[in-house]
Amino acid sequence: MATMPADRSPDSTLAFLRAGYRFIGERCDRYGSDIFQTRILLAPTICLRGRPAATLFYDAERFQRRAAMPLRVQRTLTGRGGVQGLDGSEHRDRKAMLMSIMTPVAIRQLGQLFDDEWRARIPAWEAAAPVTLYDELGRLLTRVVCAWAGVPLAESQVDRRTVELHAMIEAPALVGPRHWRGLLARRRAERWIAGIVDRARTGISPPPAGSALKVIAEHRDARGRLLPRRIAAVELLNVLRPTVAVDRFIVFAALALHDHPAWRQRVRDDDAATEQFVQEVRRYYPFFPTAAAQVRRSFDWQGHHFPRGRRVLLDLYGTNHHPALWPEPELFRPERFAGRTVDPFQLIPQGGGDHWTGHRCAGEWITIDLMKRAVTNLTSAMRYEVPPQDLALDLRRMPALPPTGLTLTNVRRTA
Ligand code: HEM
Repeated sequence: MATMPADRSPDSTLAFLRAGYRFIGERCDRYGSDIFQTRILLAPTICLRGRPAATLFYDAERFQRRAAMPLRVQRTLTGRGGVQGLDGSEHRDRKAMLMSIMTPVAIRQLGQLFDDEWRARIPAWEAAAPVTLYDELGRLLTRVVCAWAGVPLAESQVDRRTVELHAMIEAPALVGPRHWRGLLARRRAERWIAGIVDRARTGISPPPAGSALKVIAEHRDARGRLLPRRIAAVELLNVLRPTVAVDRFIVFAALALHDHPAWRQRVRDDDAATEQFVQEVRRYYPFFPTAAAQVRRSFDWQGHHFPRGRRVLLDLYGTNHHPALWPEPELFRPERFAGRTVDPFQLIPQGGGDHWTGHRCAGEWITIDLMKRAVTNLTSAMRYEVPPQDLALDLRRMPALPPTGLTLTNVRRTA
């Protein structure tokens, strides 16, 4: 049996929080191994990165998700009782419900609403002095995803709900007030959405045909039961919250256009170049650092023992930056995707493997579509300037964002 390299410190939680996105990768480089063990939140944990590791991690015979996610993540980011923590037939049933929302027609409708709203906002951005792109996109996406999902939202509520949806995303890796804000935001958001599910079910506000609200409110499990109202709220929030979180990837795309201005011209009217650009944004910029699972039954892999119940973390960021998979991984080079089929275990910002049978992100196609539309809007629908500001990304801060949220000035409509 090979010896798995091990961190010497009794617990590495603080080291993880301090190192951020590079925690696993730095140790893998130091140990000369894509697998090592450590302790995080006092629990023994095996850390993995790379393509073979991702292939292993998404083998549902060997890993389960029940109890894999730390409680602090469930209480803020994901909620409790949602698809992320299910296994086997229960997971397949719930995932099929969510995937049934992601039809090409529905994705196009969301995209159309997004484009319409973007264009409608430009006059207000022209009139405003500086515009903070992250804040504007957060509100824009909240309006758009609620309209698309069939969730009624008065204009007076947009700010409040955007703050709540953002707070859940910000909270998991933090301690102190930002974590508490995330806890409170989740409680309020679940109460809000559970009320909407009630009104949909009783017929007080019938949900639009095909909407996420209708699909989730009316879903019946294999035994013919409706989802409990709180779980239905968790699943609807699993659609709303991450769609709003696409604002981070769009800010990164705008940052990449700023840092690599030659791509502004290339992506204009060229769908293939836009696709390459968006894929490179998803690879290069930091979003979720890791995914977590738990060993279902003891097994050996590449000479290493995985005992039953052991928590395993797959390094998403580190796999997207693995030097054996990506030549010059620290360079932003969209052309690396030219003429290439994307491997489901190599580019894994939203998880790997299969969307239906595994835990790969249900909203990956939505994300790519919204990002492509955003890149087109940023390059073809408007002109703007990026004044001097602090745009440095701190990889120790999870989730990462440029400190200013990307300030734009002199926004002008061009189309
Ligand atoms: C903002 C960009 C997004 C990123 C970076 C992202 C990332 C991820 C990651 C890393 C996972 C976990 C994979 C795993 O556990 O193995 C995940 C799962 C999930 N995502 Fe996303 N996501 C994004 C957008 C979306 C959108 C737009 C939706 C829905 C409209 C969505 C819905 C989900 C759901 C429901 C799951 C749970 C899937 C399951 O457990 O089977 N995500 N996402």
